Amino acid sequence: MNQLELIARLKPETAKIDAAMRQDLASIGSPRLKEVLEYAIFNGGKRIRPLLLILAARLCVPQAGDDPGSGLYRLALAYEYIHAASLLHDDVIDHAVSRRGRATANRVWDNTHVILAGDFLHSRAMWLAGSLGGVDCLAALSRATAGMVEAEFLQLANAEEMSRSRERYFAALTGKTGLLIAAACESGAIFAGAGDELRRALAAFGNNLGLTFQIVDDLLDYLGDEGKTGKAVGNDFQEAKLTLPLLLALETAPEPDRDRLLQWLAAGPEERGAAFHEARELIDRAGGFTAARRQAEALTKEALEALAPFAGRPELSILQALTAYVLKREK
Ligand code: FPP
Ligand code: MG
Repeated sequence: MNQLELIARLKPETAKIDAAMRQDLASIGSPRLKEVLEYAIFNGGKRIRPLLLILAARLCVPQAGDDPGSGLYRLALAYEYIHAASLLHDDVIDHAVSRRGRATANRVWDNTHVILAGDFLHSRAMWLAGSLGGVDCLAALSRATAGMVEAEFLQLANAEEMSRSRERYFAALTGKTGLLIAAACESGAIFAGAGDELRRALAAFGNNLGLTFQIVDDLLDYLGDEGKTGKAVGNDFQEAKLTLPLLLALETAPEPDRDRLLQWLAAGPEERGAAFHEARELIDRAGGFTAARRQAEALTKEALEALAPFAGRPELSILQALTAYVLKREK
C-alpha cells in the first residue's frame, strides 16, 4: 500500500474520530474551556494514537465497532486527549510559540488557561478509558501517562547534567512517546478481548513505532522544512536538548568540532540560536543525522517484526504502510 492509498484508507477513520471528539466535547459547560480545547485539538493533527487503537482492535477482531458513537471510537479518544494534554503542557514547559503552523495556545490565551485545559483532557481521558475499556485499559493509560511525566523529569535531569548517555536518551524517548503509543495499541487489543501474547505483540509494535516517530521528530527539528512541520527549526539545539543526532555527533566528531559543539551547549540560548546553522553543519559532517536515521530504520524493522502473529490479516498492510509513513514523514 503506498502513501496515497494509505491516506485514502485512513481519511474516513480520521473523520469518524473527529466526529466522536466533537460529540464528546459538546457537553462542556464552560465556553472558554471549549474554545481552548477546540483550538488545541482541531488543528490538523494526524490522530495517530486513536487510529492505532482502532486498527489494533480490528487486527484482533475484524468486526470491532464501526460507528463513531461506539465504545471503540470513544475509547480511542482517550489517547488523543492525553496526547493533546501533553502537548499543551509541553508548550508551556518549552516556552514554545508555534505548533502546527499556528500560535501555541499559551500565546493565544495564557499558561493558566492552557494548564487547566490540559488537566481537563487528562481527567476526561482517564474517565473514558476506565468506563469504556475497563480496569486493564485504565491501567495501561495511567501507566503511560505517569511514564510521560517521569520522562519529562528525566529529560530535565539529562539537560541539567548535559548527559551524553544514549541509554538515558532512550529512556526519556520511551517515556515521552513509546509508552503512550504502546498503550494505545495494547488498549485496542484489550478492547477486542485478545490474549496476553497479542497484547504484548501490539505493545511492542507501538513502542518501536513511537521511538521511530520521536527520532524522526528530533531529525525534523534540525532538518525539517518549517512550512511543512509548522514548527520552528532549531528549537532543540537552542534549548540545549541533547537529542540523538547531536549525541551521536558528539561521539564521532573530531575533537575541535566536538569542543565547539560543547562550548555552544554551555553558552546561552541566544548564542546557540545564532550558531544553529553552523552546528547543524558540524553534526552533519560527523554523520549524526545519518546515524540517527539508521537507528530509526532499525526500530521500524523491529516494529514490523512484532506484527508477525498477524501475518495474512488484511489490516496488516495498513499498519505496515503507516510505519513506513512514520519513518518518511516530513511533517
Ligand atoms: C513533546 O516533546 C512532548 C511530549 C511527547 C510529552 C510531554 C509530556 C508532558 C508534558 C507530561 C504530560 C502530562 C499529562 C498529565 C498530560 P518535544 O518538546 O520534544 O516535542 P515538540 O517539538 O512537539 O514540542
Ligand atoms: Mg516541545
